Amino acid sequence: MEEQKLRELFHRLSVHDKIAQTIQLNGDLFVESGVMNTGPAKDLGFQKEPNFYEIGSIYNVNDHQKLYQIQKDVLENSSHKIPLLFMSDIVYGFRTIFPMPLAQAGSYDFDLIQQAAEISAKESYLNGIHVVFSPMLDLVRDPRWGRVMESPGEDVYTSKEFAKRVVTGYQGEKADYLQENHVAACIKHFAAYGAPEGGREYQQVELSNQKLFNEYLQPYEAAVEANCELVMTAFNLLNGVPSTGNKWLNREILRERFGFNGVLVSDYAAVQELVSHGFAKDEQDAAKKALEAGVDFDMMTAVYANALPELAKDRAFAELLDEAVWRILILKNKLGLFEQPFRGLTEPNTGEVLTDEAKEVATKLVEKSCVLLKNETALPLKKTKDQRIAVIGPYAESHFTLGFWASVSGRSSDVLTLKAGLLEQFGQDQLLFSRGFNLYEDYSSFGPLKAGFEQLNGPIEDEEFLLEQSLEQAKKADVILLTIGENFLESGEGASKTNLRLPEKQIRLIKKLAELKKPIVGLLYTGRPLVLTEVESYFDSLLLVWFPGVMGGRGICNLLVGEASPSARLTMTFPRSEGQIPIYSAQTSTGRPLGENAHSERFVSKYIDETNEPLFSFGSGKSYADFEGTWQGVEEKTDGIHCCYEIVNQSEREAWVTPQIYLLNHPAEIVRPMKRLIATQHLLLAAKERKVVTFTLSKEEFTYFDNEGARHLTSGNYTLQLDLLGIKNNQTFHLVKGE
Ligand code: GLC
Repeated sequence: MEEQKLRELFHRLSVHDKIAQTIQLNGDLFVESGVMNTGPAKDLGFQKEPNFYEIGSIYNVNDHQKLYQIQKDVLENSSHKIPLLFMSDIVYGFRTIFPMPLAQAGSYDFDLIQQAAEISAKESYLNGIHVVFSPMLDLVRDPRWGRVMESPGEDVYTSKEFAKRVVTGYQGEKADYLQENHVAACIKHFAAYGAPEGGREYQQVELSNQKLFNEYLQPYEAAVEANCELVMTAFNLLNGVPSTGNKWLNREILRERFGFNGVLVSDYAAVQELVSHGFAKDEQDAAKKALEAGVDFDMMTAVYANALPELAKDRAFAELLDEAVWRILILKNKLGLFEQPFRGLTEPNTGEVLTDEAKEVATKLVEKSCVLLKNETALPLKKTKDQRIAVIGPYAESHFTLGFWASVSGRSSDVLTLKAGLLEQFGQDQLLFSRGFNLYEDYSSFGPLKAGFEQLNGPIEDEEFLLEQSLEQAKKADVILLTIGENFLESGEGASKTNLRLPEKQIRLIKKLAELKKPIVGLLYTGRPLVLTEVESYFDSLLLVWFPGVMGGRGICNLLVGEASPSARLTMTFPRSEGQIPIYSAQTSTGRPLGENAHSERFVSKYIDETNEPLFSFGSGKSYADFEGTWQGVEEKTDGIHCCYEIVNQSEREAWVTPQIYLLNHPAEIVRPMKRLIATQHLLLAAKERKVVTFTLSKEEFTYFDNEGARHLTSGNYTLQLDLLGIKNNQTFHLVKGE
């Protein structure tokens, strides 16, 4: 619609109509959407029930026929015929569920990550979705927090690249921007929700401004630079002010400093929660503060509906309301909803999902997201006919490998299980399956989903029987393939943990199997880093598969037999113990770094009961191939820092590899991390292939911010470290500040 026409429509709206546009509810109001409620179910408390056909948006209805009917009802029953905006928690796939983001990011194949986002967008578009609530870009350095699974991880560079590529994959670029097969991206949760005190869900966040500017805000800013159309506020306090009512954060930083001019949607009931935070004295005050902070949509409460009629009598608030509603109408117009209210739903539309191409991309992303943490001799598995494999653990036949957030639109029945993947590689007689232990203590917590869950997952069995049965199977085998880890409900929202060790029954099984003196290959299913210190030594090989999505079985087995070589690198540190948390790669040195201090053994930065080192550090990841890399040169030129290195595949097999380039710390007015990732390349090298890699870093990569948000660059000597699967090469160069 021409902007002039949109203005005319806008001016026809009453205050009541405008307030209705700021309301977002989940789909249950209109239809039994049957999806997981993503927050505390409650009475909404509308003082004067709005005409629900006049509200601005609904979310988490993912059925294209239901959405068609809802939009049809809206157009027939609303006075201004303003189409509803359909949003949804499509975080890592619609029906083709990809590996969870903490896994995907570790592939460092940003082209493939973007391709996966394009597929998610197309499937969402063809099922009537206009906006997806992702990518989640909260930097995470505390694995006690359950939502680390939906983040790209602890690292700024990785998260920024992930942000740019996923937003672009969803929205498209230039010609096809927001057109057919594309959806608008709503990044979340602004800001720094991933740093709750104690790793406890919804807890307060305390970060210095320099930490915010140099690290935690960077991924969101990268998404804004990639034109994300929406931002979702966070539940948490940030330095004493709730993000959802934070004018400094949402207006000065997001809109003025970053230049965001899209729509700001609150998280679930976060406007109302300004009262429980102790920030607003009542809901009227909460509405006032949220609107002043620039929140356009009030998700899942009646606070705006109840409070704005009175507030809008004041001219200043009437203008703030106009601002919010205008942004909402602009977004609907950008999506073409006025001309195509049934966008993506027009016949003939089968709501096409899970195409062969989509499954192929998902399989590739599984292969590139699983991290080979350890491998002595067992992998790749031999495929000789006499090879007998004891496949032990509940994940072999489990369909519940999608992770917490996939259940809004994904279906466990779509999963190609590990067992199915193994049967593509081995004869039935070579595989000796046993459950090993129950992954769920009971199914009562599944409520209405209990029956379906139990039907798909099998009954709870006696633990002693399961243990003995597995040991019997293992005795007949040459190699043991053992699946361990969390169940999918142990991570995601509302799943903070203080104990990150495996359950005792899994540890007992591992130790009993180890007594058989056969090689044990561990497959670790988890939504977060776990503490594996007590069991790591019992494994010959350990492959971290995270929650791998619908094609997990095939992708994992392609790795197990060597059709693909593992190339993923850890996106989040695995601690040796919870006591080390927060522990992450880009930490500062301290004035008394361990090992570099003449003072004494005591007065240095260390623990007396634990090492400073993690069990598996950020960037860890082995391959079936061996590589060597040497710098050829690093030099400052007018257009940036020109870098060149040579890499050689020393093995007899082709393999993907992700060399990582770290910037080591250097003198600065704000102390910089000992090392921080600054660049990566994702390369395929044939057997014995030698490749020269060149790339240019902008000087901006070497800058940093002070607590006032001013950017600095210091002339001096800088060192870049080329890290190839843990083998490091340094190259120092001189950088002159210049203009
Ligand atoms: C949830 C989550 C958010 C999600 C929203 C809508 O509480 O915090 O990530 O998008 O509510 O389901």
